[in-house]
Amino acid sequence: MAQIRAAITAVEGFLPDYILTNDELSKMVDTNDEWIMTRIGIKERRILKEEGKGPSDMGAVVVNNIIKKKNISPSDIELIICCTVTPDMLFPATANIIADKCDIRNGFGFDLNAGCSGFINGLTTAAKYIESGFVKKAIVVGSEKMSVIVDYQDRATCPIFGDGAAAVLLEATEDGNGFIDAILCADGVGREYLHQKAGGSIKPPTHQTIDNREHYIYQEGQAVFKWAVTKMADATEELMKRNNLVADDIAYLLPHQANLRIINATGNRLGLDPNKVLVNIEKYGNTTSATIPLLLWENQDKFKKGDNLILTAFGAGFTWGAIWIKWAI
Ligand code: UT7
Repeated sequence: MAQIRAAITAVEGFLPDYILTNDELSKMVDTNDEWIMTRIGIKERRILKEEGKGPSDMGAVVVNNIIKKKNISPSDIELIICCTVTPDMLFPATANIIADKCDIRNGFGFDLNAGCSGFINGLTTAAKYIESGFVKKAIVVGSEKMSVIVDYQDRATCPIFGDGAAAVLLEATEDGNGFIDAILCADGVGREYLHQKAGGSIKPPTHQTIDNREHYIYQEGQAVFKWAVTKMADATEELMKRNNLVADDIAYLLPHQANLRIINATGNRLGLDPNKVLVNIEKYGNTTSATIPLLLWENQDKFKKGDNLILTAFGAGFTWGAIWIKWAI
């Protein structure tokens, strides 16, 4: 009997309308377009401005679009995983709110927080549910409203992040395509370099934590940079080696979009033609869990059935890893 694999059979994305340019940022902090473009590679990012709207609203748009496009019933979806570090609320899970907004009532779901590696962890988790036969159709969403945790007084961090969402539908297939293999890693030693100081249970919100700006992202950029630049390439190299893949076998690399210098260094170390390394950081910045599904969404017309795609990410935790999928549509 052929092995059951999880195939991506639809991808949708959503970006808020508001465009925050480098020029506008330069009016908020002491920075400029030239510094941001040379050090990070971001020209603009999208911001979800509408009051009362959150990741579940962006997530519901993409999930509803998948349901419409595939002409399936919401009740066909058995599992929904929402990868996010900016949930609508601490509880209930944003996945459950998206499910409600999309009339998905026959399934189960949960949020997954693995920093910027959220999507690759979510995709692997959903794929394993499908491979085991436990579910037949699953949705993995990456949805982030990073603008609420970005300190627009911190010039080293505020240019990096943006808002957005994207999702994939996974279905069982026996044609040999789909999710093949993954290497996922985490090392909590990295938490000191990238975290949010207050708002959790060890430091609940108080007037003082707000005055101290402790609800915003704290990042020691250089330390994160050093780890990211090594670990995404390490994980991808190991994944390729254990599957006997060489650079020519790879159709495209879809790296997490945090810094163009990290993306280029990763592609170079793997010996990949730069045309095979997909990039959209200039337009959207780092949308955390949404970067990789947004890349899938924007580039899906380039992919051919059977193409080898490598997805790789690095983020808070630290978390990192790489996934090999064979494009199935
Ligand atoms: O997705 C989650 C994972 N996150 C990442 O992967 C982020 C990894 N880190 C980075 O991308 C980079 O470290 C940053 C983009 C955060 C910072 O770039 P950098 O090249 O590491 O800059 P730096 O922190 O070493 O700062 C260099 C200089 C400093 O000035 P001095 O001390 O040399 O005078 C900073 O004050 O650049 C200054 N600087 C800025 N100048 C203009 C920092 N931010 C800015 C700014 N505009 N926005």
